[in-house]
Amino acid sequence: MYRSAIYRYPCRGGAAFHGRPLKYIREDNPSVYCAERLLALLEEGESGLGFNTGMSAFTVLVLGLVGRGDRVAALAHMYGTALQLLEELSRRLGFSLDLFYSVDEFVEGVGGGGYRVVFLESMTNPLLYVPPIDEVAKACRDAEGCLLVVDNTFTTPYLLKPLRLGASLVVHSATKYLGGHNDVAGGFVVGPGRLVDDVLWEWRRMTGSIMQPDSAYLVARGVKTLPLRVERQSRTARVVAEFLLEHPRVAEVYYPGLPGHPSHSVASRLFLRRLYGGVLSFRIRGAGMSDVERFLSRLRVITPAPSLGGVESTIAYPVVSSHSTISEEERRRLGITPDLVRLSVGLEDPEDLLEDLDRALTAAG
Ligand SMILES: Cc1ncc(COP(=O)(O)O)c(C=O)c1O
Repeated sequence: MYRSAIYRYPCRGGAAFHGRPLKYIREDNPSVYCAERLLALLEEGESGLGFNTGMSAFTVLVLGLVGRGDRVAALAHMYGTALQLLEELSRRLGFSLDLFYSVDEFVEGVGGGGYRVVFLESMTNPLLYVPPIDEVAKACRDAEGCLLVVDNTFTTPYLLKPLRLGASLVVHSATKYLGGHNDVAGGFVVGPGRLVDDVLWEWRRMTGSIMQPDSAYLVARGVKTLPLRVERQSRTARVVAEFLLEHPRVAEVYYPGLPGHPSHSVASRLFLRRLYGGVLSFRIRGAGMSDVERFLSRLRVITPAPSLGGVESTIAYPVVSSHSTISEEERRRLGITPDLVRLSVGLEDPEDLLEDLDRALTAAG
C-alpha cells in the first residue's frame, strides 16, 4: 500500500497514471488507482475513480454533469440522502428535478423529458423494486444528450452489469458489499474516459474527495471474496424471505427473488446467476414504532444498525435511518411506514438467523 502524500515532480522518470503525472495525494494515488482499475474491470467500463464515500462520488457526479437550466430525473425511492442532496443542489445550482413515484411512469417519462441526467438505483431501498435498466437506457439513448447513471451498490457487479445494459455511468457506495466487512467507507464511479477522466477527475480534485489509500487497500481486499459472499448472502436471503412469508407475525415480505414481488420478472431477466441479492424487507403485522423497537431489542444474532452488505447480518429501521430526512407524508407515499424493517443478510448459519427472527418476532408480539 502506498501512503505517500507527495511524489517527485517535476522531473523526468516521475511516475504517471492515466497519462497524468503522479504528484499529490488529493489528485491520484497508486493504491487508489489499483482499486479503480479493479472496479473498472468488474463493471466493464473504461475508467474508474475512487472516492472517500458513496455520497462524495454522487456529489461529484452531480457537480460535474449537471448545470443551470438542465433537467434531471430520478425515482423518488432513491437513497434518502442522495435525494436530499439532489433537492438541495437543484435549488442552489438552478436545475430542475423531476421525481417519479412508479417505475412504469419513470420508464415512460424519461424518453420525452429532455433530461440531461437520469439517476437510477439497481434496486430501490427499502422495497427493492428493480427498474428495467435496459429499457430506461434505450429511452435515454433515443433522447440525445441524456446520461443514465446507475447506482449498483445493492447488486454489485457480481449480479448486475449496468454498463452492459446501456447505462452511461455506474456509481457505488463501496462501504457496503465491495468493502463487505463494515470497516471501511468508500465510493466509485465507473464509465467512459471522456466523462470519468476528462470531467469528473477534475471535480474530485477540486472537492478533495479522493478515496484514502488505506480504504482502497481494504476495498480491494474485500472484492477478493465478493463472489463468495454475494452467492452465500443471496442464497440465505431467499431462505429467510421464504421463512418470513409463512410467519404469522409478518404481514408482507419484499424480496425480488420471491415470485410474488412486483419486480421478480425484471430481476430474473437482468440479474446474473439467478441470484437476487442479500437484502430483504418485511412488515411486522400490526406493529407500531414501540413494537418494532421491542422486536429489534430482542434480536441476539442480527444487529440493529444502518448500512448493509457486511459479513454480519444487520437490520435497519428506515423511518429512523435511511429515510429519516424526508417528511412522514412523503415516507407514507413511498410505502415506508413504522411497521417496515430492512434486513441485510450476512454469512451466519441460516438456521441461526431463522431462530433469532422467530424468537424476536414472537417476543415482540
Ligand atoms: C444505494 C446507496 N447509494 C449510496 C449510498 C451512500 O453511500 P455512503 O454511505 O458510502 O456515502 C448509500 C448509503 O446507504 C446507499 O444505500
